[in-house]
Amino acid sequence: MKVTVITGSPHKKGTTALLADKMIEGAQEAGHEVFRFDAAFENVKPCLACEYCSSHDGECVHKDSMSDFSHQLVEAELIVFVTPLYYFGMSAQIKAVIDRFHASNAKIAGSKKAMLLAASYGPDDWTMTALEKMYESMLRFLNWEDAGKLLATGCPVREVLEQTDFPQKAYEMGKALK
Ligand SMILES: Cc1cc2nc3c(=O)[nH]c(=O)nc-3n(C[C@H](O)[C@H](O)[C@H](O)COP(=O)(O)O)c2cc1C
Repeated sequence: MKVTVITGSPHKKGTTALLADKMIEGAQEAGHEVFRFDAAFENVKPCLACEYCSSHDGECVHKDSMSDFSHQLVEAELIVFVTPLYYFGMSAQIKAVIDRFHASNAKIAGSKKAMLLAASYGPDDWTMTALEKMYESMLRFLNWEDAGKLLATGCPVREVLEQTDFPQKAYEMGKALK
């Protein structure tokens, strides 16, 4: 399967980077082809809502990292969203990528799977509720199938995450992909 992983943290060695690494490790061991897009280290301008894409066959008015990545998105069979929780939602870095889906909606809707990996400081069971709702609404809109969620609550830093079973769970989610 062609797997595209989009990460949203500016921490190269943070909590969600570890979740992404582990999921990718499992997926590659299971024979899947993985492409990783670290949004915080790419040039992704915010959507201007100019609708240039509507009259240019999905081509965006911005010429930046999304120009190549949008082709990758179309090809992907599974898209994995990996984000730290920022004010109860995704980070701005990954949200900017998602907003740019707008230009490709017609090409990417339907017949894809998605996965959500997230980490938060807060340990409460409601900590990720808004994030989950946003993710589920996005999948419903795009007609994508959920392939799993891993919500690592109570993990402010990598050292804490490493003491939990979340990294192992991320690995197993990758390994179990079909
Ligand atoms: C700008 C910002 C906003 C945050 N908002 C929340 C939040 O709403 N709830 C929460 O539990 N943790 C919040 N956190 C904590 C991060 O989600 C948490 O530390 C996470 O493990 C960081 O992941 P990373 O190391 O991959 O960047 C926030 C951190 C930052 C920097």
